[in-house]
Amino acid sequence: MEYNSPTISFFGLGYVGIVTAACFASKGFKVLAYDVDKKKVELLNEGKSHIFEPGLDKLIKESVDKGKLKGVYDPFEAVLNSDMTFITVGTPSKQDGSIDLKFVDSASKMIGEALKLKDKWHLTVVKSTVIPGTTNKVVRRNIEILSRKKYDEEFGVCSNPEFLREGSAVEDTFNPDRLVIGGDEKSVNFLKRFYEMFYNPLPPTIITTAENSELIKYANNAFLAMKVSFINMISRICQKLPNGDIEVIAKGIGLDKRIGPLFLRAGAGWGGSCWPKDLNALKKFAEELELKLPLVDATIEVNNTQPLIMIDLAKEELKDLKGKTISVLGLSFKPNTDDVRDAVSIKIINNLLEEGAIVKVYDPKAMENIYRIFQDKLTYAGSAIECIKNSDCAMLVTEWDEFKRMTPEDYLKNMRNPFLIDGRRIYDPKLFSGKMKFKAIGLGNRV
Ligand SMILES: NC(=O)c1ccc[n+]([C@@H]2O[C@H](COP(=O)([O-])OP(=O)(O)OC[C@H]3O[C@@H](n4cnc5c(N)ncnc54)[C@H](O)[C@@H]3O)[C@@H](O)[C@H]2O)c1
Repeated sequence: MEYNSPTISFFGLGYVGIVTAACFASKGFKVLAYDVDKKKVELLNEGKSHIFEPGLDKLIKESVDKGKLKGVYDPFEAVLNSDMTFITVGTPSKQDGSIDLKFVDSASKMIGEALKLKDKWHLTVVKSTVIPGTTNKVVRRNIEILSRKKYDEEFGVCSNPEFLREGSAVEDTFNPDRLVIGGDEKSVNFLKRFYEMFYNPLPPTIITTAENSELIKYANNAFLAMKVSFINMISRICQKLPNGDIEVIAKGIGLDKRIGPLFLRAGAGWGGSCWPKDLNALKKFAEELELKLPLVDATIEVNNTQPLIMIDLAKEELKDLKGKTISVLGLSFKPNTDDVRDAVSIKIINNLLEEGAIVKVYDPKAMENIYRIFQDKLTYAGSAIECIKNSDCAMLVTEWDEFKRMTPEDYLKNMRNPFLIDGRRIYDPKLFSGKMKFKAIGLGNRV
């Protein structure tokens, strides 16, 4: 097949869609970006993004100004004027934890309807995280039925899961560890040719079936979450061990090349828009195959109780939290994002409110998103110092750089009762515990 620089369309302008669209456009590819949420399309055409992600605003502005990136309100316009469409819609959980494919279903139906009017071969790429079988059984099928076109001859589909991390999404899109592409030969080759042009040279690339490609994404997330839950499990021992310190244990095992140092940071637990829903979706998918996944169960179980350790540590010191002012520093599920979906901060805040505490919060970027959830139940501070002012306990929940720069004196000067619980192990215990009441995840008493 003749291969010119393809025009690309996107269905879904969330964290993945808008970042990927902007990165592709920034390298000169023409990108048409569609979302059912008109506000996101409108904002994009003004050269802005609705999310915070380092480097993203600049990429969007430049690409929109150059005419390379355009938000469109009509799904037909997106499909009919492009050579391939990336599906980047959300794949949330249903009530029972299984994957809700309603957005993938509706997006692929729209693409199918539009393709009915198209004569040229068109590729649909499933970038959303979907359980194995979805690309062929849902996306391909919907397009086949609604477009009345022949698979392979007149259109193709493939799976191409996304591994970017919020907080470094732009950087990750330009420098991925690897690409995974799954599907029929023609579709896979078409997408691979595009990536060859985009990356030049191509990163390590796995070419496989759509089903393997879909499962790689789940196995990847489950493994990473398991590593974090593992170190969190060991951190519970350290906390009860005089002179124990999980940081040292993590270093000790991380130097073993078979284990590696990454994802061994103990803390108040993991959250976010992906791991919680993906682990549950994987579990439910396995149940359909009459399989149990005990390691996934244990990974989730450790994580469900991990944030509560922060509450226990506060109670050990303050006894009753009723009427006490507790400052929560950091609300996004990790630094450098404003995303609070399934954030640990939400669990901690809910528990503090149940205990009758007065909760003051601060985050450099996620205040609006947290306000949408808690409204007037919390006190919203304009800075970290304002947040800890006159409080009885400060809980460090998200490890933003600006919190790392805070000193024991900041806490001593501003808090009513200088008492800090480090839920992310960003502070040096030696420096802090000598000067104020200091507790941390995975840190035993000094004897
Ligand atoms: N956020 C991440 O860090 C990340 C990383 C890797 C993979 N993923 C996966 O990528 C997918 C997208 O995640 P996200 O965080 O960007 O989701 P998101 O919820 O931020 O955005 C999804 C977007 O899709 C839009 N949408 C829904 N139905 C649509 C339709 N029919 N046509 C067009 N737009 C439609 C929504 O309006 C929304 O803007 C998910 O499957 C997720 O698991 C996310």
